[in-house]
Parts: sequence; C-alpha cells; structure tokens
Amino acid sequence: MIPRRRFLAGSLASAAVALPFGIVRGAPVTFSADPYTLGVASGCPRENSVILWTRLAPRPLEEGGMPPSPVEVEWQVAEDEGFARIAAKGVVRATAELAHSVHAEVKGLRPGRVYWYRFRAGSAVSPVGHTRTAPAPGNSNGRFRFAFASCQQYEQGYFAAYRDMAARDLDLVVHLGDYIYEKSWGSRHVRQHGVGIPTTLAEFRNRYALYKSDADLQAAHAAFPWLSIWDDHEVADDYANDRAYTTRDPELFLKIRAAAYQAYYEHMPLPPSARPIGPDATIYEHYRFGDMLDMLLLDDRQYRSAPACVHGGRPTWVPDCPERTEEARAMLGRPQERWFDARLGDGKGRWTIVAQQTLMAEARRKDAEGGDRYWMDGWDGYPNARRRLLDSIVTHKVRNPVVIGGDRHAYFAADLKRDFARPRDATVATEFVGTSITSEGPSESNVRKALADNPGLTYARGDKRGYATVELSARSLTVGFEALDDVKDAHSAVRRLATFVVEDGSPGAKAA
Ligand SMILES: [Fe+2]
Repeated sequence: MIPRRRFLAGSLASAAVALPFGIVRGAPVTFSADPYTLGVASGCPRENSVILWTRLAPRPLEEGGMPPSPVEVEWQVAEDEGFARIAAKGVVRATAELAHSVHAEVKGLRPGRVYWYRFRAGSAVSPVGHTRTAPAPGNSNGRFRFAFASCQQYEQGYFAAYRDMAARDLDLVVHLGDYIYEKSWGSRHVRQHGVGIPTTLAEFRNRYALYKSDADLQAAHAAFPWLSIWDDHEVADDYANDRAYTTRDPELFLKIRAAAYQAYYEHMPLPPSARPIGPDATIYEHYRFGDMLDMLLLDDRQYRSAPACVHGGRPTWVPDCPERTEEARAMLGRPQERWFDARLGDGKGRWTIVAQQTLMAEARRKDAEGGDRYWMDGWDGYPNARRRLLDSIVTHKVRNPVVIGGDRHAYFAADLKRDFARPRDATVATEFVGTSITSEGPSESNVRKALADNPGLTYARGDKRGYATVELSARSLTVGFEALDDVKDAHSAVRRLATFVVEDGSPGAKAA
C-alpha cells in the first residue's frame, strides 16, 4: 500500500530545503507560484524504460501562466524514496509550444521493480511520484494487478474512485477514454467547467488543467504508471474519424481534432512518438508484462468509418439498415487491423488484454414495435470490423483473450462470439466493461432489458459509478467491479459490487 500523503506534499515546501539536484543549466528560472499544480505522472512502462510527465503551470486555468521562453527541467529516478540511490537522471526542455509539458523517456532501468521520481525547474522541486517497470520475460512471479477506468465528467461527481485506487497495490492503471468531457451535461452537478465547449488549443489546455487539478486524480497518477487511450469526449461527442455531428465541415472539425489531440498529448505520460502531427497521432500500442500479459491498446475513434444509417445525425439508437453490415466498414482501419493481427501472432503472454474504448458485445435494444435498434457509435455499428477482430483472435489461437472497455457508463460482463446470432457457439473472448468514474449511466430498466435481449451479455449494472480491478495469475484472472457509494460525495467509500473469475484456458466470466 502506498501512503497517499506523500504525493500531496507541496513542492514549494520541499523546495525550501537544500536543493537535491546536482545539475544547474541555462538561465535561472523563478516562479511566482508552485509550477506543479497539475501533479506528476508516469506511463508506458516497459522492461527497462518508463515515461515521466509533468507540466509547469503556475496559473493552470490561464494557459499555465508561464512566460514564452523554454525552461530546462531536471528529472531524477531513484531506487529508494529518499533518493539516496539514483538510478537515472537527465534534463529535458519544456517549451511553450507544448505548454511547458515534460515527457522524459527514462531508459536503462531494471525490469519489474519500483522506482521513485521527481522533477526540478529552477528552485521548484516537484512532489515525488512512484512507478514500476514491466517484468522481464521468463519472470512469471506470481501475479500482476491493474485497474481500468474511464469517463470522468468533472461536473457530475467527485473523483473519489481515484482516491480509493491510489491506496491499492497496483502494477498499472489503464485509462480507456473520456478523460475530459468537452461539454456540460447530466444532472445534479457538484462542480462546474465554468466555460463552454473547447475548440481551440488554449481552451483544451484549460480543460485538462481543470480536470488535472483534482487531488485524487493526481494521487492515482503519482502512485502508478498509466497506459491511456482516448475516446470521443477528448474531442467531440460521438465523432468518427473526420466526421462529427457537432461540426459538419470535416476540414473545420480536423482543426478541432488537432487541437484536442495535442492537448491530450501535452497532459498524459505518453512517449514523444505519440506526439500528434496536425490532426493525426498514433496511440495504439502493444505492451508486454513478462510472460503473464500482453496488453494491446486500440484506437477505435481516429480511423473508423462514418456512423451507419444516421445520415450525418447523432449515432444513437437507430433501426438497422444495409449500410451497417457492409463488409468494408472499419472501426480500427486496415493498418491498425493488420498491426493487431500481427501483434496477436507474436503474443507470448498467458493472458492477452485488448484494451479499447467501448462495449464490444452485441447489445441490441427492442423498440415498441419489436424491431432491433443499434447504438451506431459502438461496435454494433461496425459488426464486420468486430468479426474481423475476433477472427484474428481465433486464427492465432490466443490463449486467454480478454477485452476491456468503457464508454457505456455501466458495468458489463459478456461472452464474445464470432456470430452473436448463434449464442451456443464457442466463446471467443471474455469481456468486461468498467462503469464510469463519474459520468451518469443508463436507466436500470434499459440495462435490465439489454441483459434480457442479448444472450452475449452475462452481467449489467448501470446505477453505480467506479472502476474495475484485475488480478492475473498463471491460473486465473479475477475482475472486481469497485463501486462508489455516492459519486456526489467527495469522501465516498468504495465497495466491491461483483467479482468474476476467468480460468486459464476457459473463456467466459464466472461469478465468484
Ligand atoms: Fe463517457
């Protein structure tokens, strides 16, 4: 267990003691206020490397409040909390072009061990973060634990789920999108965005700064390395590639997407290779955790075909039409599909987690006339792309495939089938969807109906906010649905709502 208070220690307090860093380069820099208002983070852990992140932002809601000049930021990684045994150190340049964010690629670390890290700019020393490298192959040392989360509309609740998460002993956190929301919606707001929908880089930066000023979110970043992918609300509601019902002109929309992607990069512990070029950025990636786990992160927003059957409108619950089942419709796009297939081909982990944005299982809704309606923004709008993805899993005989998702603001467990019309066919993969950190869920009657109308769904619960934990061992994978008592209470307790086990070699979630 990691004591949370360590991560909340003010940097100005630590800056008052003797400066712990050895190197001073460039012009001396001073800050009118604490520049580490957005905390510290680490991410993308590999056997020998990790990414360290911070952003200098003494006035976070005013585009950071930094002068336009670059600032040299030192970083240190230590084997001990007291920084007596330094494992690596370096200097990176924080520039106005990237909102004085820092993405330090630390190399030469040892596999499967914990490290502490901190930054210094001028005399300002950051809070200390804690991270962990991926285990080496051949090392199947018993267990691997991670949490996954998504959908954190700031106004609709407090990030108490992250306080609970930060107190756990985890190897990793996976964020599946909707890290920010561009729009205000939902009822009973507990706090406000204060401004409208962002469309410019400055506005997106301020939105990230607002969300990242949350102490509980900062604690979860400072405690563990993260892997993250985006969904729609980092840019615009239900967008698909260059199409958005909110901005009909694709050229104009791509300008918004470019600003949104850049602000995402600036605020997440991503490697420089994920830095956007205009409106494009590669965030799909493969991570290996010893012999235990292959983690494949997908991007199902940037390359997908336009939503089917909605004629440019909002892709909500829509009756079927021939366009939906056209073979060529893409969710990942051909390059990412080929990449996914190749990565499955050389996967070595006992467990393979496919981390993606939304519910993959079929979830039709019956309308009053008894016809089927489909949520065209999800995989049900792209059934052949889904079948191709599941075909890859079958072709490569992936040992234990498990899909995780977010987006739906409900907990789901599901059995994924190549053809959902044949529910007795073998289950290809097991699926779990965590609920939302704060965002409002569907009505319980709709969730119950979904469960009744869709044989692939084995569990559904829409009335609880929270996240999910996963514990892997050689023999089984255990998923816990961790739910808040009350998302409107900043100090809410978290309780285990349901536990599922997937046994090695036997797809399908068993309630435990
Ligand atoms: Fe969401």
